Amino acid sequence: MFERPKAGQKALLVHLEFPGADFESDRQEFIELARSAGADIIATIGGSRRDPDPGLFVGSGKAQEVADAVAASGAELVIFNHALSPSQERNLERLVKARVLDRAGLILDIFATRARSHEGKLQVELAQLQHVATRLIRGWTHLERQRGGGIGLRGPGETQLEMDRRLIKGRIATLKRHLETVRGRRAQNRASRVRNNVPTASIVGYTNAGKSTLFNAMTGDATFASSQLFATLDTTVRRLPLASGDTVLLADTVGFIRDLPHDLVAAFRATLEEARDAELLLHVVDSADPERMSRIVQVEEVLQEIGAEEVPCLQVFNKIDLRDDEQPRIERDEFGVPTRVYVSARDGLGLELLREAIAERLLPRLEVQELSLPPSAARLRAQLFTHHAVRAERIDEHGNFHLQVAMPYARLQGLCAAAGVTPPPSPHVVEEWELSP
Ligand code: GTP
Repeated sequence: MFERPKAGQKALLVHLEFPGADFESDRQEFIELARSAGADIIATIGGSRRDPDPGLFVGSGKAQEVADAVAASGAELVIFNHALSPSQERNLERLVKARVLDRAGLILDIFATRARSHEGKLQVELAQLQHVATRLIRGWTHLERQRGGGIGLRGPGETQLEMDRRLIKGRIATLKRHLETVRGRRAQNRASRVRNNVPTASIVGYTNAGKSTLFNAMTGDATFASSQLFATLDTTVRRLPLASGDTVLLADTVGFIRDLPHDLVAAFRATLEEARDAELLLHVVDSADPERMSRIVQVEEVLQEIGAEEVPCLQVFNKIDLRDDEQPRIERDEFGVPTRVYVSARDGLGLELLREAIAERLLPRLEVQELSLPPSAARLRAQLFTHHAVRAERIDEHGNFHLQVAMPYARLQGLCAAAGVTPPPSPHVVEEWELSP
């Protein structure tokens, strides 16, 4: 009987270059993922291949190089940034005499440490068991007892000493039943929100873009956010009060990554369903990431995969504090509709603008009011222009500005108060632009 090697934190990474892949960027992401899982990375082994070897994935020379490196460094874990078949994984473990984890296993490990809610934990356990189930093959029928701690140790085996196929099958069935119940409840909650006419905005984005930080900054709650990838696993929904007095709901979702293994997409569908049913997606982008444009495309691809491509989207370019050339601002299309907001979630820059943009995109009617300003209020006038709030302007012979301003009334009141200017008497909605001459 083959015993699985013990897993641990000291890890060797293996990343091969295949034709057509962006080697360096893939390698960087891999290192981040492994760090995220808590690996203590001893070394990275590279190489290139045209096709994977059916038996060992890598060539026999490369496999020996890995085995030698394991022996020399005392690494307890070898992580491949590739999908390994169960038999490749087993052959490699025999040869290198250390636990071998493939990309899906690594991602599952990370998910396992990040699951926060009951549903998230169920989803992760299910995905892990399904992953393990494919690896229960002849000669490898017993999972070693897994003790808490390092990566590769958080598998579903923690609670059971020996799980054979039959046990796993039973557990999978139970988990699926539980998940059905939880999903049913979630659907009910959603239906009641729709009945009560509360619009929902869902935060989506590439992992590490700053979604949790933004979520917490916007909803004023300092729950868990970390520098590690995948801090978010579950959707959490909170109230987001807007300046107009309206409330929308804000949902935080799982971070997307490139090449999310397909069984994971399925396992986490319930988490992402929140995004599919939202009225608005806030697509958070790390604006300091040189890869940001390809990340956007990758996220859009996943959104398409879960059927959310039709949901209106507002891009949030986050982390502008890391860029010298960006200020908090709203970018609009030719009809004046906000399409992108530049913010720093960490420093709280541009969050008011983001609220405004959300309000404009979600609330059916925009409040427009007429405002007259003396020449001395030029600064307020400039502010209103900066906020893309001015819809029309006339200057009279005394140098007074007569503006039509589109913004939530409460916000305009605040700006006027700060500038020592009398605000318009009450919220007023102008349907047509009708500035008196
Ligand atoms: P996942 O849950 O992994 O998908 O990540 P996330 O998108 O929720 O990112 P998270 O909020 O955990 O932030 C990731 C890292 O970026 C953390 O170290 C944050 O402190 C940092 N961060 C978030 N927002 C900003 C920002 O505006 N500026 C800077 N400089 N760092 C930020």
